Amino acid sequence: MSQPLPRAFEDAVGAAVDYRPGPIMTFADLFCGIGGFHLAASALGLKCAYACDIDEQARKAYEANFGITPGNDIIQAKPSELPEFDLLCAGFLCQPFSIIGDRKGLADPRGALFREIIRLAREKRPAALVLENVRQLVSIKGGSVFDRILQDIAGLGYYTDHRILNALDYGLPQKRERVLIVATRKRFDAFPWPDRKTPMKPLSGVLEKNPDSRYFVSDKIRESRRKAHSSPHKIGIWHENKGGNVSSHPYSCALRAGASYNYLLVNGERRLTPREMLRLQGFPDEYKIISNDSQIRKQAGNAVPVPLAYTAIQGVLQVYDQSTATKGQRNKA
Ligand SMILES: C[S@@+](CC[C@H](N)C(=O)[O-])C[C@H]1O[C@@H](n2cnc3c(N)ncnc32)[C@H](O)[C@@H]1O
Repeated sequence: MSQPLPRAFEDAVGAAVDYRPGPIMTFADLFCGIGGFHLAASALGLKCAYACDIDEQARKAYEANFGITPGNDIIQAKPSELPEFDLLCAGFLCQPFSIIGDRKGLADPRGALFREIIRLAREKRPAALVLENVRQLVSIKGGSVFDRILQDIAGLGYYTDHRILNALDYGLPQKRERVLIVATRKRFDAFPWPDRKTPMKPLSGVLEKNPDSRYFVSDKIRESRRKAHSSPHKIGIWHENKGGNVSSHPYSCALRAGASYNYLLVNGERRLTPREMLRLQGFPDEYKIISNDSQIRKQAGNAVPVPLAYTAIQGVLQVYDQSTATKGQRNKA
């Protein structure tokens, strides 16, 4: 159920503010990274009006793949100079909220970048927002940070909903849980999250046949892993946690931007290749890799799994009665 706004408040906000009513044709990709939201939104027929990311390598990858040059620091973005857009997408910085981070939440200057989303949404008044973050965002400080985020969005006159989605349930062999926040100016009774899970693609469909020898670890590391763990899986990804415990699964644990080099090892013996990391995030093989291995690790570890972004945007389109079957027509337009 969407959080209902008090009638008087809705009258005040809804009457005073001229929101874009839909249909949803264009999107802004804030904190665009290498474009997980872009892939999802364009697969649903939407056109990118604006993107920005402070990271030069991410901007270059975005431009090489989508032909759009993203803006730089969002703090410098002037709403009056930006094009109009119907949907605002943002995977805002997750480090301040992640279990790996220090849990300071919005007090951390990187967490405060959320304020930039509010600033641009207030000025540009898109019909809808789709935001993504780590699942821990929902529970830090007893849920007070998340409540504040939802209140700030509702305060602009949006109905909101959220759900924790796991990439494993959306076809990808990666356990990656993310909270997706959706916000629409149009009221909805129940946001159309899908009921059914998409079967996980097996790891064999993601792993490269003949990876370069540079991805294989030293004998010493391989032996230490084997001493620590014996895997029941013919093909598995071995995960070493921060405490040094090793486990293995027929899928990957979450890719992380700043993790130690060998924390994920295919069959306990080699690192994932850049293409494999992108596949684990749902990026198609046509996606051009233009960065070096360590940059791709960071970029892939930061990205939103494409099917999760797709699911949330598809739901928003349904709220606006835009059947996704119209995709072809809108693509042609
Ligand atoms: C969690 S990642 C988003 C990844 C993206 N959704 C994707 O699919 O690749 C956050 C991104 O915010 C960018 N960023 C951090 N500070 C920024 C700022 N001040 N302005 C614009 N982008 C920023 C980072 O470079 C990073 O790429």
